[in-house]
Amino acid sequence: MDETAKARRVWDQAAPRYDRQIAFLEKHWFTGGREWLGARATGRILDVGVGTGRNLPHYPADATVTGIDLSPAMLAVARRRARRPVELHEGDATRLPFPDGSFDTVVCALSLCTIPDPRAAIGEAWRVLVPGGRLLLLDHIGSSWPPVHAAQWLVERVTVRAAGEHFTRRQLPLVRAAGFEVVEAERLKAGTIERVQALVPDGDQAGIGRGPAAVTGRARGGCRTCRLRAGSPSFGDRPAVERACRASVHDRCEAGADDDAKPARGRTGKLWRAAEDLIGGEAQGGFLPAYGERAVIVLIAVREFR
Ligand SMILES: C[S@@+](CC[C@H](N)C(=O)[O-])C[C@H]1O[C@@H](n2cnc3c(N)ncnc32)[C@H](O)[C@@H]1O
Repeated sequence: MDETAKARRVWDQAAPRYDRQIAFLEKHWFTGGREWLGARATGRILDVGVGTGRNLPHYPADATVTGIDLSPAMLAVARRRARRPVELHEGDATRLPFPDGSFDTVVCALSLCTIPDPRAAIGEAWRVLVPGGRLLLLDHIGSSWPPVHAAQWLVERVTVRAAGEHFTRRQLPLVRAAGFEVVEAERLKAGTIERVQALVPDGDQAGIGRGPAAVTGRARGGCRTCRLRAGSPSFGDRPAVERACRASVHDRCEAGADDDAKPARGRTGKLWRAAEDLIGGEAQGGFLPAYGERAVIVLIAVREFR
């Protein structure tokens, strides 16, 4: 059974008990998180991994709400809960059945810890958001306190295998790497809870300043959005993605424009990208071509490690 089918089965089984269990955690662990999301969500809202619909009462009355979830049993509870018009779909966060640019806000609460490929899910959120659209995340993450982090790591040995539940993941670097502009990020409860508000930069900002390779198009070693999307099952192979990317997603894509400035391929390229994911920004440093794949990379993080 693949990971997605396993996740569906796990959440179908959990559905009858979910509300009771999560109510306790809502009170004591991610306190106020749903209100935080509801206060920031506007317009056409997509709730990814909507579950039993516990965010629904917090969205503004004038918003249009769509929810998607892998589990029919979780969705059945959400349908009963909804006290407002809401479109609920069964589907996969990494293959959203919606056209590009169809939402103003994408919310994902407590789901990226369990979605088998969170990077692809964030890439899909980017795709379905309008320029200037808002991504809102609430999740538990690896603690900033080493002893707590170690305990989470131990717990995860069991939970990942049993239920696909991760405790040491962190979504913020993936959000940055996807090209979002992070406007709010706070860690609570010994750094185990994180709330993130991030925007898809709109056209006016294209090419300015830091970050989004997707927007500046100056991604040394390849365009980061192309890379991200090439890894997503919904985007096909890399050349096709780069073509589509140039044509529609960000027309100033310059994938490969200065590949020689930074290692893009092979093991060295992988290391470099892993370092960028880790720091959540662009890494700069020296690359000794003479040593090829075995080069020692000296990385100077240009962004604060948070
Ligand atoms: C912990 S629950 C969170 C539910 C809800 N967002 C909340 O805040 O209570 C995780 C949800 O993610 C859903 N999920 C897991 N993998 C998914 C995927 N690939 N696509 C869509 N939903 C997924 C599960 O079915 C489950 O309903």
